[in-house]
Amino acid sequence: MTAVPWRIVPLDPGWDRRPFTSGSPPLDRYFQHQVTQDIRRRVTACFVAIAEPGHRLAGYYTLASASIALGDLPADLVKRLPRYPSVPAVRMGRLAVDQAFQGRGLGGVLLADALARALRADIAAYALVVDAKDAPAAAFYQHHGFLAFTSQPLTLFLPLATAQAWH
Ligand SMILES: CC(C)(COP(=O)(O)OP(=O)(O)OC[C@H]1O[C@@H](n2cnc3c(N)ncnc32)[C@H](O)[C@@H]1OP(=O)(O)O)[C@@H](O)C(=O)NCCC(=O)NCCS
Repeated sequence: MTAVPWRIVPLDPGWDRRPFTSGSPPLDRYFQHQVTQDIRRRVTACFVAIAEPGHRLAGYYTLASASIALGDLPADLVKRLPRYPSVPAVRMGRLAVDQAFQGRGLGGVLLADALARALRADIAAYALVVDAKDAPAAAFYQHHGFLAFTSQPLTLFLPLATAQAWH
């Protein structure tokens, strides 16, 4: 399959999002109808992969601040953290790739881009947290090194120090 050049940039609310189809109607509806409102209200940021030529919106993810209760983390990690009730995090609430572009590495590229943004930020975060919509989505994140919360198998996290060590 030929490589597609991606550009990952903040979503411009003026771009046509109607053709976007990931195979997950809730993720598509959110992207088509709600994300720009959430951006305006400052409750999320949204980044998109643009496939050239054609300027197709090939994938998107959202980022917002979050916190992780220490009780959600495995005991061996908690031992190495200060005894605060929670630690700061960045949440990737949604990630989706258009079906026309799935299986070409773009999901992994978007994940790496989100980790790089969280690492570059001036405000500290311990981990990137993701909400998987189902077990196969959780498997995608586990494939990339994410660990599940102790009591919520569909919420996973990757310590940013671990991601940094991979760079
Ligand atoms: C899940 C999704 C984001 C993956 O994107 P993609 O571009 O098709 O995936 P990639 O081509 O980047 O796959 C990257 C790697 O993850 C692996 N992978 C993909 N889906 C996987 C899954 N469900 N379980 C385990 N591994 C998976 C691939 O085999 C590939 O492995 P490799 O790098 O070792 O070759 C995409 O299929 C999608 O948008 N699905 C619908 C919405 C969804 O499920 N979103 C998930 C968040 S809730």
